[in-house]
Amino acid sequence: MDKSKRKVVIAGNWKMNMTPAQTEAFIKELAPLVKGKDDSVTVLCVPFVDIATAVKAAEGTNIHIGAQNVHFAEKGAYTGEVSADMLKAVGAEYVIVGHSERRQYFGETNDTVNARLKAGLAAGFKMILCVGETLDEREKNITFETVSLQTKVALKDVSKEEMANVIIAYEPVWAIGTGKTATSEQAEEVCKAIRDVLAGIYDKATAEATTIQYGGSMNTKNAKELLSMKDIDGGLIGGASLKTADFSELVSDAQ
Ligand code: 13P
Repeated sequence: MDKSKRKVVIAGNWKMNMTPAQTEAFIKELAPLVKGKDDSVTVLCVPFVDIATAVKAAEGTNIHIGAQNVHFAEKGAYTGEVSADMLKAVGAEYVIVGHSERRQYFGETNDTVNARLKAGLAAGFKMILCVGETLDEREKNITFETVSLQTKVALKDVSKEEMANVIIAYEPVWAIGTGKTATSEQAEEVCKAIRDVLAGIYDKATAEATTIQYGGSMNTKNAKELLSMKDIDGGLIGGASLKTADFSELVSDAQ
């Protein structure tokens, strides 16, 4: 497989952190640090209320802005949710769906992830689909089955053409926010398995063209090794995306 055919994407997932004012200051500080580092794509997925500020602050830079979720309905009685049209209107380019925290705390299922993914694709967003096993699933030796099921259901009725706008983030749940990173071999093994699943659903060319990120305690100490693996095309970064020095170093590691 030729990794050079794929886009390497370093995306920060800020989760529930940062006010608009903090967002503006962060992006002003980050922009010069990542300027010209264009061998990878730099994305920040920020809380909904920060998107408009982030988009404005990122104007004229190589930083792209994303959201952390999108609802599947066009509009209506869905208290607390945000539609694709709304995200478009404030200038988001990327949207994360299926993050394990959404699955764990907010009842997100493979089917709702599929619906959200399709709504985002239909609106023209670049989507970051998260999959990953829990510690219990890893210990029961059903990592591949779990991740394969999550991938297949999330991509149901997503066309081969639409896959050009889908990034998959493999995030083992036990590695998120725990400081426990998957070893580069563990991460590579599952990213490769996901690519094989894509080849099964679509074809080899689609599988080879899809960006597959690793996420879970990726930091300035382990990123280089993870990013050197054949099937790992970037990272989805939580904690380390909240500091400009660390995040820009991760972007540098991807050059
Ligand atoms: P951490 O990098 O904080 O472990 O979070 C990873 C993650 O969940 C990114 O979506």
